[in-house]
Amino acid sequence: MQADYRQRRQAFMEKIGAGTAIFRSAPTAVMHNDVEYNFRQDSDFFYLTGFDEADAVAVFAPHHEEHKFVLFVQPKDPEKETWHGYRVGVDAAKERYGADEAYPIAELDEHLPKYLEQADRIYYRLGRDRNFTQTLLTHWQRLIASYGKRGTGPTAIEDVGFTLHGMRMVKSEAELALMRKAIAISVEAHNVAREMAQPGRYEYEIQAEMDYIFRKNGAQGPAYPSIVASGDNACILHYTTNNRQMQDGDLLLIDAGASYDYYNADITRTFPVGERFTEEQQILYALVLAAQEAAIAQVQPGNPYNAFHDAAVRVLTEGLVRLGLLVGEVDKLIEEEKYKPFYMHRTGHWLGLDVHDAGFYKIGKETWQPLQAGNVVTVEPGLYIGPDIKLAEDQPEVPARWRGIGIRIEDDVLVTATGHEVLTAAVPK
Ligand code: GLY
Ligand code: MN
Ligand code: MN
Repeated sequence: MQADYRQRRQAFMEKIGAGTAIFRSAPTAVMHNDVEYNFRQDSDFFYLTGFDEADAVAVFAPHHEEHKFVLFVQPKDPEKETWHGYRVGVDAAKERYGADEAYPIAELDEHLPKYLEQADRIYYRLGRDRNFTQTLLTHWQRLIASYGKRGTGPTAIEDVGFTLHGMRMVKSEAELALMRKAIAISVEAHNVAREMAQPGRYEYEIQAEMDYIFRKNGAQGPAYPSIVASGDNACILHYTTNNRQMQDGDLLLIDAGASYDYYNADITRTFPVGERFTEEQQILYALVLAAQEAAIAQVQPGNPYNAFHDAAVRVLTEGLVRLGLLVGEVDKLIEEEKYKPFYMHRTGHWLGLDVHDAGFYKIGKETWQPLQAGNVVTVEPGLYIGPDIKLAEDQPEVPARWRGIGIRIEDDVLVTATGHEVLTAAVPK
């Protein structure tokens, strides 16, 4: 794995050339009073370093003669470590993480300028840590003021995403191995959940079992708060209360995935709580499944990113017209987005270190990013007919028998050189 990080750093540094890139570790987040959430490293920081501690800064200065990769970290401190846990420390940051130089974080202001003075620009993501951004801007301001005397220095800050996130979009074998592990654990949890779901059980029982299976298998936990939504709740996209008692005749929508070594799975399945679908549930399920199959068929290298979303929208809209739930000509309904009360989200997103992973969907006003081998996307069409669904004025009232049905089917799909691989195929649909 260290070799993978080294390769990434090398590729990244080739891209930034004469610039210096700076990454701040994720801030620690307070849960309440002085109790903190579990630390979760910033994904960009982790992608390039594998370093998993707070209060750290990584600097990449490919133009520097000796120190191309520098880490500022919390120093060893037996007392603090007794309270807050193990620290790698300055020496091991070099030995174990391959830094050319490492310093205690308290010496940042002293050492940072020498890695910036010769750079033509600074690569940085304006983001979560405003204090750190202010520190960096102060350094930049000083360097600009002294540029005239030196004749060198950064004249611009460029968002680091334009170089780094292009790399993160294409997964290496090592990354895919971790994603497959996160997925394997999630598959087991979904398969157990389906067996458990019975009338009378509570949504949280299923959630607890799945979270238990994640952790028991070495995952860090759920990749996002698990959605276990029965009956009408399935029409709430981010439902996480998970406290309803399930009834015979309900559908159960489960959107849950594990995070393993920071790589994420994202899987949704929808199925009857009791023995069988009602007729309306069955019809709508078949429609969502057909939309998903049409969408997955579009996950091919070279296809524009949007092709699979367009395919899903077309199948769903055609189906809604066939069922009389929408009235009009399909192309026009799509153009005017009349399907949106039933299907209000997009059909997928990049997946990786972040659940909604870094990367570009568009590369120009009219141009969608072409898919390429190594991309991982979710494909997750759905239909949501909430009890109070409101269509456009020129559309019919939705009959009561269709209301209270929410369905989503979500798989994680790898783009390969010749087509695609559905990584989550082991959960039945
Ligand atoms: N579970 C979050 C998503 O499907 O995007
Ligand atoms: Mn999901
Ligand atoms: Mn998703």
